Amino acid sequence: MEIPTEKTEPPGESLLSIRNLKTYFHVKEGLAKAVDGVSYDIGHGETLGLVGESGCGKTVSALSILKLLDVPPAEYHSGQILFRDQDLLKMTEDQMNAIRGRSISMIFQEPMTSLNPLLSIGFQIDEVMVNHLGLSPKQARERTVELLDMVGIPLPRKRAKEYPHQLSGGMRQRIMIALALACDPELLIADEPTTALDVTIQAQILDIMLSLQERFNTSILLITHDLGVIAETAHRVAVMYAGRIVEEADVKTLFKNPLHPYTRGLLRSVPNINRIDPSARLQEISGMVPNLCRLPRGCAFYNRCDLREERCRSEKPGLYCVENGHYVRCWLHQTRE
Ligand SMILES: Nc1ncnc2c1ncn2[C@@H]1O[C@H](COP(=O)(O)OP(=O)(O)OP(=O)(O)O)[C@@H](O)[C@H]1O
Ligand SMILES: [Mg+2]
Repeated sequence: MEIPTEKTEPPGESLLSIRNLKTYFHVKEGLAKAVDGVSYDIGHGETLGLVGESGCGKTVSALSILKLLDVPPAEYHSGQILFRDQDLLKMTEDQMNAIRGRSISMIFQEPMTSLNPLLSIGFQIDEVMVNHLGLSPKQARERTVELLDMVGIPLPRKRAKEYPHQLSGGMRQRIMIALALACDPELLIADEPTTALDVTIQAQILDIMLSLQERFNTSILLITHDLGVIAETAHRVAVMYAGRIVEEADVKTLFKNPLHPYTRGLLRSVPNINRIDPSARLQEISGMVPNLCRLPRGCAFYNRCDLREERCRSEKPGLYCVENGHYVRCWLHQTRE
């Protein structure tokens, strides 16, 4: 039985408010509940870090925002994705196309999947602005050159004429950022934007994202495995496990006082938020993530938890608010409403 402690408060000042989102996949084995009742908010100019082990539903929750999953096998089962108080899940494909790349844009983990190898990078960035902002090709190219310069591409006018394969991984990732920022989005979704890059380039790319956020007050959903990246860039952090948020807090609180046994496991290696090794990764926790088609009756983390009690096996914990803005889905932290 689920205790009704899920976040239900109205979105308030949030730019994006996800409420009880359920995104499932119809697979041979049955119904894989990849995102199983996720709620989070992102305020104007805020960065929300989304962390969790591989397969916990981070990318699926991000792709749901832009409705980029193939339906079927995917199904946007229920919930709300309120963007400026409008529910994206109710929008038509035409309405979504007006939003994608314009108000909400996404940097994908593998830049080659979203760059067309047959078109010059300049043309691809120009095109977004011609389509969404109604600029003339000439105006668009001027702005493309500015954008490339802003993301640290040397000789931008010349580089604009090149094709994706002529650029290094780090350069392509910068192009992706330029492309994602071309229309001045209100929300930028960055899915492992720096994971494939070496540490120096990672730092440069993050700096670029942060300075752009400062300049344009962009909201960012940042998905990463990298604790150093989270510590340096996120304002709030949400930890996902088996399709649900198990803990959410502002970044300092989460590092200083992680409460969910899963979060504690992930952060075991991090003694101090101010001294995080930039290459620190989430710790391995022994045991297996549950099968999303056969989620346990009680807490999804039960089989791996050091602190489990009998009720954890049979009853699902709610998401409890332990202090202002700090939520934990664990019976050990049950609070009265
Ligand atoms: N097209 C699909 N068909 C069936 N299952 C899918 C599909 N896409 C994703 N899934 C499943 O949904 C679950 C969540 O996947 P998701 O890609 O969101 O994980 P993630 O948290 O982003 O992991 P990673 O850290 O490895 O990127 C996984 O179990 C995955 O196998
Ligand atoms: Mg992913």
